[in-house]
Amino acid sequence: MVEIVNVPLPGREYQVRIGQGLIGRAGAEIASLLDRPRVAVLTDENVAAHHLAALKAGLGDAGITMSALKLPAGETTKTWPHLSRAVEWLLAEKTERRDVVVALGGGVIGDLAGFAASILRRGVRFMQIPTSLLAQVDSSVGGKTGINAPQGKNLIGAFHQPSLVLADTDVLSTLPRRDFLAGYGEVVKYGLLGDIDFFQWLEQNGPAMAAGDMAARIQAVRHSVQMKSDIVVRDETEQGDRALLNLGHTFCHALESATGYGERLMHGEGVAVGCALAFEASAQLGLCSQEDPSRVRAHLRAMGMKTDLADIPGDLPDADGLLDLMAQDKKVVDGKLRFILARGIGQAFVASDVDTAVIRQVLDAQLAARPA
Ligand code: GLY
Repeated sequence: MVEIVNVPLPGREYQVRIGQGLIGRAGAEIASLLDRPRVAVLTDENVAAHHLAALKAGLGDAGITMSALKLPAGETTKTWPHLSRAVEWLLAEKTERRDVVVALGGGVIGDLAGFAASILRRGVRFMQIPTSLLAQVDSSVGGKTGINAPQGKNLIGAFHQPSLVLADTDVLSTLPRRDFLAGYGEVVKYGLLGDIDFFQWLEQNGPAMAAGDMAARIQAVRHSVQMKSDIVVRDETEQGDRALLNLGHTFCHALESATGYGERLMHGEGVAVGCALAFEASAQLGLCSQEDPSRVRAHLRAMGMKTDLADIPGDLPDADGLLDLMAQDKKVVDGKLRFILARGIGQAFVASDVDTAVIRQVLDAQLAARPA
């Protein structure tokens, strides 16, 4: 059974199809988008080892041929050298204005391939086949594409909506547990930002989902994508509500920067820790009850996830150092730190002028609790 979420952006509407076996049926799923039966696939070496043969067979069943460029796996691929390599490869493959570029991979490949498609011949269509939970519930939907700059993550890019997203939930079984749980950080975020019933559902079903319950996985991906679609349709270019999707991200980006964007802290793990910190700050500011951050942490702990600064291995800067890193985030407007805070679980809002003393206090308390 395939669930479909529509992203009804006027003139650029597309579907997110969610379910099992979609990669093996990719040809039939995408045939109607193509003017000619060939596609260029951008992927990474790890994902290719798991899924490229299945995609090739699935396309071949519908008479579609493909060529693929395998980029190195990892965040450092989201940089100029790999972008130019991808764009020049697409040109060498004679990708035409009416062709469709396929992004097969997680958030890094989706962001890079989408950006490559947005600048190739002034914009060609692309489709996403997200292979991580994080990409299925967040980065493959909504059209944010781009690469990182030395000055920060995602500072170079474009809004370029995909023409189709195929979220094959079978791929989630190939993920290491840590990657799955990192993606789950983004799933929890949706409940926390706008839907307490979904959060409650996750409290009940999250453990089964992590253990492999396919119905629960499909339901969680569908609900997350529906929430994302609703927000993106209201505010595609993040003039307002879309910023709610950044719950936990101001903390997260500072922590990722402090830990070198690598093994010590995966993005989704940073989002989970960041959400817990955002609820702690909200409670300190008297916006929500003290029980809310405790409940957020209890669920993350029950899932075996990182929850507090104490769970991040290695050295961290002090609170001022982390605040400096936050100030470099692109969510800074007129020099003021913009945080997503909450009046309760499921009631997030954009706070544009937050008293940094409170944020410092929350960070200090958690840094003091770290093992020496
Ligand atoms: N990942 C946040 C957004 O798409 O706006």
